[in-house]
Amino acid sequence: MKRIMFVCLGNICRSPMAEFIFRDMVKQKGLENEFFIASSATSTDEIIGGIGNPVYPPAKRELLSHGISCEGKRAVQLKWEDYEKYDLFVGMDSSNIRNMHIILKGDKQGKIRKLMDYTSRRGDVADPWFTERFDIAYRDIYDGCEGLLKALLK
Ligand code: 4NP
Repeated sequence: MKRIMFVCLGNICRSPMAEFIFRDMVKQKGLENEFFIASSATSTDEIIGGIGNPVYPPAKRELLSHGISCEGKRAVQLKWEDYEKYDLFVGMDSSNIRNMHIILKGDKQGKIRKLMDYTSRRGDVADPWFTERFDIAYRDIYDGCEGLLKALLK
């Protein structure tokens, strides 16, 4: 069982997209029992009074246009205690990676990765909260997830 945590700033756009795209990919290969998949935020911006916001509607619509539901997902923050509970922490951009090192108090076991490093394009998944390009975010995240799954199945 591989335990994967996708991470972004707010956990309402990119990391939930990655969580549900990766789940769908794994399910299509009949490997759902071999993975535990989750997502979280580095910030508390989308968690109000302890309750996380749902996936941002345009991100939800983009997923649905590809036949992927993210129903029930609400934002949660990454916690230091998660470090032992997951095998990989996959951030969306360089700023996420810096904040993941702070929250997780380093990375002694080398579990922190950046999603686009699993593609030939590398770099960051641009934040669609700011760019409003949910289609580009979907394409980048899909390619990253495909590369990640390939790497894990090697
Ligand atoms: P995400 O996008 O990190 O891809 O979920 C954002 C969502 C919310 C905010 C920033 C980025 N915010 O500032 O609330």
